[in-house]
Amino acid sequence: MSMISAFYGSKSILITGATGFLGKVLMEKLFRTSPDLKVIYILVRPKAGQTPQQRVLQILNSKLFEKVKEVCPNVHKKIRAIYADLDQNDLAISKEDMQELLSYTNIIFHCAATVRFDDHLRHAMQLNVSATQQLLLMANQMTKLEAFVHISTAYANCNLKYIDEVIYSCPVEPKKIMDSMEWLDDSIIEDITPKLIGDRPNTYIYTKALAEMVVQKESGNLNMAIIRPSIVGATWQEPFPGWIDNINGPTGLIIAAGKGFLRALRATPMAVADLVPVDIVVNLTLAVGWYTAVQRPKSTLIYHCTSGNINPCNWGKMGHKHLMCIVPTSYLVGVTGPWMTKLMNRLLRTLSMLEYFINRSWDWSTYNTEMLMFELSPEDQKLFNFDVRHLNWMEYIENYVLGIKMYLLKEDMAKIPEAKQHFKKLRNIHYLFNTALFLIVWRLLIARSQIARNVWFFIVSFCYKFLSYFRASSTLNA
Ligand SMILES: NC(=O)c1ccc[n+]([C@@H]2O[C@H](COP(=O)([O-])OP(=O)(O)OC[C@H]3O[C@@H](n4cnc5c(N)ncnc54)[C@H](OP(=O)(O)O)[C@@H]3O)[C@@H](O)[C@H]2O)c1
Repeated sequence: MSMISAFYGSKSILITGATGFLGKVLMEKLFRTSPDLKVIYILVRPKAGQTPQQRVLQILNSKLFEKVKEVCPNVHKKIRAIYADLDQNDLAISKEDMQELLSYTNIIFHCAATVRFDDHLRHAMQLNVSATQQLLLMANQMTKLEAFVHISTAYANCNLKYIDEVIYSCPVEPKKIMDSMEWLDDSIIEDITPKLIGDRPNTYIYTKALAEMVVQKESGNLNMAIIRPSIVGATWQEPFPGWIDNINGPTGLIIAAGKGFLRALRATPMAVADLVPVDIVVNLTLAVGWYTAVQRPKSTLIYHCTSGNINPCNWGKMGHKHLMCIVPTSYLVGVTGPWMTKLMNRLLRTLSMLEYFINRSWDWSTYNTEMLMFELSPEDQKLFNFDVRHLNWMEYIENYVLGIKMYLLKEDMAKIPEAKQHFKKLRNIHYLFNTALFLIVWRLLIARSQIARNVWFFIVSFCYKFLSYFRASSTLNA
């Protein structure tokens, strides 16, 4: 019997960000492995004309939850969507709902965040820092709470080259910044943002670092843990390979390259693409929740969920073998439209922000994550596998690309051979164009520079000598 499954089997669990990429996979795994759990409370806001309940129904009716419905047919009765808006200071939770949460919650998984790199500092502060503080306040009043797991990011301290499993301080206290957001107007905040974020690349990373400081300061006697995933990608194995539903990070890169919008990117091919499949992150998160509640470590433990130091994949390998070759595209076979143009504009805007991460590598320590692996029973090591050593990157990325087509772009898989042909054609045009450009530049150089003429003469005479030698030796052999 799995200890982790049994542990969650009797719990009331609160998840923030359950409608997001990571949150959905977390919920799915919880229901699939612990179908007897009491309830999952999720904090949801209405969106795109849908009430929180309608949003939950849509999630449950998605492909991701097909397996869950088999093992937990009454899953819809076990999700309680609680109206909440993390953009509001009090999170906009009603008194009755708040009472219920405070009385029954056993475990909290805090996944909600704004993951937009270029979000206005005021908004990023509210969602990533103030909402975390508000949740900690709530957690401190929960009578049955056993563990609080906060999802951070491995890049929270990307201003450092080597990152340990500790909380690093930012120069200005989060409280001071939160207070100043109350009275500074937007344009002044924009002016001081570069000074505040310092050597971190954007407001997302900066506010995630501040959130960790808030966790450190305000967790009181809670059993607290922080998980720092690197770049979260499509599922590796569970519930099926290649599932993905948003265009953030590498997914956007793959789509833009596949659609032919992105033919070149300033990237260091040897820099490590520190990807982790979302099911790995979820498995670690559930194992951490269990360990934190059962073992009650004396201090907040931080778990790095990264792949680069264990089983590295670099951007060069990823881009060459897959982005440019496998991704056959609907764009190339003529399926375009306003939504695609909108999507591409959004992608191209964010790609420039990704360059920071594509051209650098980091080294994360993983002592706590490794320690936890050894704490699991052999059965849990299999059921909640977060060991990336066995991941075959080529196979993973191939499934990732197919997953993008199937689950995200919802494209017709029957068109793959036709699209491949088109892609080949486009690539040949690209090579032809580059060759022509090279020849023109070279011709101009020869016309203007004596050195270029000398080099050209050297190359031509070398080729001529080589050919003469080759011809002479083949005549002798005959
Ligand atoms: N994806 C990655 O590569 C990555 C890497 C490292 C760390 N992380 C961390 O992992 C966590 C989850 O990321 P993700 O990729 O799943 O992000 P995501 O798909 O953008 O999900 C964000 C979640 O936060 C919720 N949220 C945003 N604003 C809210 C508000 N005002 N009120 C209530 N809920 C709100 C969203 O709800 P709506 O559906 O209503 O918008 C959504 O459920 C984040 O903490 C992120 O920092 C992610």
